[in-house]
Amino acid sequence: MSFVACMDVDSSSATPGGPTPEATGHRPVLLHPLIQSLQPRPGQTFVDGTLGAGGYVAAFLERVRPGGRVLAIDRDPAALAAARERFADDRDALILVRGDFAAMEAAAAAHGITSVDGVTLDLGISSVQLDDPSRGFSFRVDGPLDMRMDPHGDRSAEWIVNEWTEADLAALVRVYGEERFARPIAAAIVRSRATSPVVTTAQLREIVERTIPRRFWPKRIHPATRTFQALRIEVNHELESLTSGLQAAIRILRPGGRLGVVSFHSLEDTIVKNTLHVAAQNCLCPPQQTHCTCAHRASLLLLSRKAIKPDAGELAVNPRSRSARLRVAEKLDDAGPDVRRSP
Ligand SMILES: C[S@@+](CC[C@H](N)C(=O)[O-])C[C@H]1O[C@@H](n2cnc3c(N)ncnc32)[C@H](O)[C@@H]1O
Repeated sequence: MSFVACMDVDSSSATPGGPTPEATGHRPVLLHPLIQSLQPRPGQTFVDGTLGAGGYVAAFLERVRPGGRVLAIDRDPAALAAARERFADDRDALILVRGDFAAMEAAAAAHGITSVDGVTLDLGISSVQLDDPSRGFSFRVDGPLDMRMDPHGDRSAEWIVNEWTEADLAALVRVYGEERFARPIAAAIVRSRATSPVVTTAQLREIVERTIPRRFWPKRIHPATRTFQALRIEVNHELESLTSGLQAAIRILRPGGRLGVVSFHSLEDTIVKNTLHVAAQNCLCPPQQTHCTCAHRASLLLLSRKAIKPDAGELAVNPRSRSARLRVAEKLDDAGPDVRRSP
């Protein structure tokens, strides 16, 4: 598993008039297959639950005009401020909302929107956030150990690292970081904070580097990657938001509307895959049961059985996109037992 922020692909040829990475310092991942899958058209309404640097939003705005709208949500006030500037001429078609995408239905309802033609979630953080040392997301640049997408959020990574018990830290790094050296890393953090609190990204990075024997350092990622990922997930309640956000997205889609989700590590992708898979089933009874008693009916049709990955062209321009996975599904009619089955 590897951690990447939503990184860059040169989308300019695939999406004329779309994002301008030079201007934002960020290029969206898997933009071309996402747009091909969601097929935004004039007059349609889309929710982008993860505005970020606005790469997807720019591509949607271009296609839903005239008459369409894009509701873009982000937890990060800096992303919204940048979008207000970047999309200053798009106020007629763009609604910007600060908050968690799990609350997308309330955000939409506040603007009179009850159903939409498409929803996208591009998970994790943007390169703008990653590259800003003051946000504390990256072990590559020194900064305060913060990691909050919403700077007003209740707990920073610093608080967790200095307040949690050794056992809880070990469990966090093992489960959310899938890190085999979780216990020694937690022990090293506790030893280090006994002398002075761990308050910077460089301090944490050095603790992890010292703790994992060099011969066990992963080949393709920095040894601190998994520990930083675990903390970021916990600080931002990322997996809980994803679980609720997927259900909200399914509910708000109109029949025929489409959902596209880009994930960047296996914990996210497993939640996306399982949620879509369950929503695409007509019955969830155990296989040995001869009659359905669950009354579960499919609400989604999976548009691709396997996740869509960046192609060679995208990987060549942006190697950091390598762990991105796009899954796409279409909302079915609320038609009871005779709904289409997934392929
Ligand atoms: C990977 S970036 C999105 C990049 C965007 N697709 C683009 O093209 O520029 C993810 C963004 O989603 C935001 N985000 C992540 N989880 C969120 C959540 N649960 N609710 C709202 N925003 C979230 C992050 O703050 C970040 O700005």
